[in-house]
Amino acid sequence: MYKLIDGKKLAHKMRAAIKEDIEGYKAASGKEIGLAVVLVGEDPASQVYVRNKIKACEEVGIKSYAYYLDENTAQARVEELIKSLSVDGKINGILVQLPLPSHLDSKKILELIPFSKDVDGFSAENMGRLCMNEPCLVACTPNGVMKMFESEGIELSGKNAVVIGRSNIVGKPMAMLLTNANATVTLCHSRTRDLKAKCLEADIVVAAIGKAKFITADMIKQGAVVIDVGMDRDENGKLCGDVDFESVKEKCSYITPVPGGVGPMTITMLMYNTYLSATRS
Ligand code: GUN
Repeated sequence: MYKLIDGKKLAHKMRAAIKEDIEGYKAASGKEIGLAVVLVGEDPASQVYVRNKIKACEEVGIKSYAYYLDENTAQARVEELIKSLSVDGKINGILVQLPLPSHLDSKKILELIPFSKDVDGFSAENMGRLCMNEPCLVACTPNGVMKMFESEGIELSGKNAVVIGRSNIVGKPMAMLLTNANATVTLCHSRTRDLKAKCLEADIVVAAIGKAKFITADMIKQGAVVIDVGMDRDENGKLCGDVDFESVKEKCSYITPVPGGVGPMTITMLMYNTYLSATRS
């Protein structure tokens, strides 16, 4: 019998705790906490994410500063904005919603964010520190997954973990976090040979592939923990994950649903990172 890891419930609980911490910080320091959210263009999914991030700020007591820039904004204008936010004392975190329009050089823009305000944890400094198991701001989605393991008391030490997907946003930091937690990690990707055999060895599977229902029951070991980071659409246009939930769940000890699994944890960890940035500055 599997147990569902309820990300919505955990996110709610964590946001209440973060709100309390923020109230304490504000009372003790007499300062506000500020998050700048930069959206360039009108990508519908990005608009939803940004709206939810701003809503979460209100919920926990962070002041949000939203910058909505036109699709055709010049590179120099975006760079200028990031540079000014970098030295703005009211701003503790800077989030540039990705993907940026293709005419912009994302790497150059993100590199202007000081690592102390890099609440996405995407910078080379934060990624490098994570790799070296030093204090840093950790990318929100994989950090949210770690909180799910923690809240369920899922032991990671000595376990075989398979992470599928090697993105800088999820797969790579996820593999690092699991390694730091003493799991034995295999980081799989589109060129991996015999993915099924690798998955069948895994006590823990984290799917961050971006393909609807890609992970099927025949790939999962009995009793495995399965975490689904996917946000896909099935053949009927319905939101689903990278895992074929209905068949896979019967084999799992724990599984996350989509929606209501990892998703709500990502924004919660953004709030947490913004709070951390404020306390560390
Ligand atoms: N686009 C998709 N996921 C993310 C994220 O975690 N952070 C940012 N900035 N953009 C994204």
